[in-house]
Amino acid sequence: MPENVNPKDLLELAVRLADEAGRLLVQERPRDLGIADTKSSPTDIVTVMDQRSEKLIVEGILAERPDDAILGEEGSDRQGTSGVRWVIDPIDGTVNYLYEIPLWGVSIGVEVDGVTVAGVVEIPMLRETFTALRGDGAYRNGEAIRAYSAQSEGKPVPLERALIATGFGYAAQRRAVQGEIVADLLPRVRDIRRGGSAALDLCSVACGRVDGYFERGAKPWDLSAGALIAQEAGAKVGGLHGAAASDEMTVAAAEGLFEALCGFLEGHDAARDS
Ligand code: IPD
Repeated sequence: MPENVNPKDLLELAVRLADEAGRLLVQERPRDLGIADTKSSPTDIVTVMDQRSEKLIVEGILAERPDDAILGEEGSDRQGTSGVRWVIDPIDGTVNYLYEIPLWGVSIGVEVDGVTVAGVVEIPMLRETFTALRGDGAYRNGEAIRAYSAQSEGKPVPLERALIATGFGYAAQRRAVQGEIVADLLPRVRDIRRGGSAALDLCSVACGRVDGYFERGAKPWDLSAGALIAQEAGAKVGGLHGAAASDEMTVAAAEGLFEALCGFLEGHDAARDS
């Protein structure tokens, strides 16, 4: 750990800034909120509130830690010299935010020398703050959480009884493949959920609100904090064939179900776009 770097202090700053950004997003959302810009496809949208939230968080970090690196979904890409990098999604679930569906949040992960050591996912409309420090467990509103649903009684859930969250990309061709895979998975599981926020999906695995999650195309800012929170809650988080979680594929579930879900996805060659 570099000198002058204390993960607890980093988490404290992340929690404060996620809270401030969450309040901004609730209190200052224009009634006539529109789409400010589009990114990878016409359905991949940015609102002025994504931009304001990222600005608030970046300014808050730099006011206290001017030598840190920052990667943010809405364009922040700053090199640093301290060994610390902040990975920010200023609104994860922007489409939900636009449509006033309450499943959106602010996600901030903090890396030291390339390893995520702290993370917060703030879900203002559910009044939930998920946090984790590497090696110190995962928490919702300060209470420890575990990655097992009430139905699982602390044991791995078999695939056929698992509630599985997933997400879809913004490119039409990728979505067509994702639709095929979900169509084949649906008869083999309890049910599927498409909540609309990858960070929240990972936190839902962490607190047992779903049994598992998988998605192709989730980006570092979608995953950074939520993956640490899910791992610290006892879930396995990774990619297919033993790879690390990445935008190729991210899978999260308690041990046992994780392997079953990876097996299904590997069998369907799910990390493909055609
Ligand atoms: C999106 C959400 C969604 C997931 C997409 C992400 P954004 O993030 O997390 O659930 O399926 O892959 O891009 O664009 O709302 O920040």
